[in-house]
Amino acid sequence: MNDNIYNFWKKTSPSPDGMTLVSHTETFDQQEREEIIGFLPSFENQNVLELASGIGRFTGKLAEKATHVTSVDFAPHLIEKTRETHKQFSNITFKLSNVMDLSFQEDTFDLIFINWLFMYLSDEETSLLFQRMYKWLKKGGTLLFRESTHFTGRHVFGKYEAIYRYIDEYTELAKKQFHVVNHDIVMTYFLHQKLTNQHYWRCQKD
Ligand SMILES: C[S@@+](CC[C@H](N)C(=O)[O-])C[C@H]1O[C@@H](n2cnc3c(N)ncnc32)[C@H](O)[C@@H]1O
Repeated sequence: MNDNIYNFWKKTSPSPDGMTLVSHTETFDQQEREEIIGFLPSFENQNVLELASGIGRFTGKLAEKATHVTSVDFAPHLIEKTRETHKQFSNITFKLSNVMDLSFQEDTFDLIFINWLFMYLSDEETSLLFQRMYKWLKKGGTLLFRESTHFTGRHVFGKYEAIYRYIDEYTELAKKQFHVVNHDIVMTYFLHQKLTNQHYWRCQKD
């Protein structure tokens, strides 16, 4: 694990702005969350794993329909915030863990949901996690991930060392194991932030 990244997230504000790292997230937060959730196939009555859940901007939306959601983050104050704000749900397990320390049985989940994570992992970790997620998913299951990318190559942000990978790197990684059902940009970020580097991939375990 990269200590700088861990220390960054351990201290970040447990707020929507803290999660997106832009100001005035409230002006597009709801639209963005609805757009991302809209990329998913039906997840009614499904067993869901959410990695890097932060303050749970998506956790409640997942738990409203899923049978069960396992929500994982390595920052203690962020997991605690999610727990506090999701007391009304009895179908969420809050797990404080580095995603690389997780282990589940094969064929456990119908859906794995990620909204920003791989940019905080090394190439080796990213590749390993893809292989593990493939095993954890049931046949026919979905992996939905959204990442900040870069168009021409890699860009590493000095402040907290996030790796904005070339878009095709993620497509190639996903294709090694999964069938990529859909890949496109996140329109909310284009409309509100004039950014076209926000991408999502919907992948299926055939
Ligand atoms: C940009 S925030 C996104 C949070 C949430 N998914 C959202 O969209 O609001 C990234 C999150 O990834 C978590 N994270 C980064 N690396 C992690 C790791 N190796 N294991 C677990 N959580 C990690 C951070 O603590 C932070 O909550």
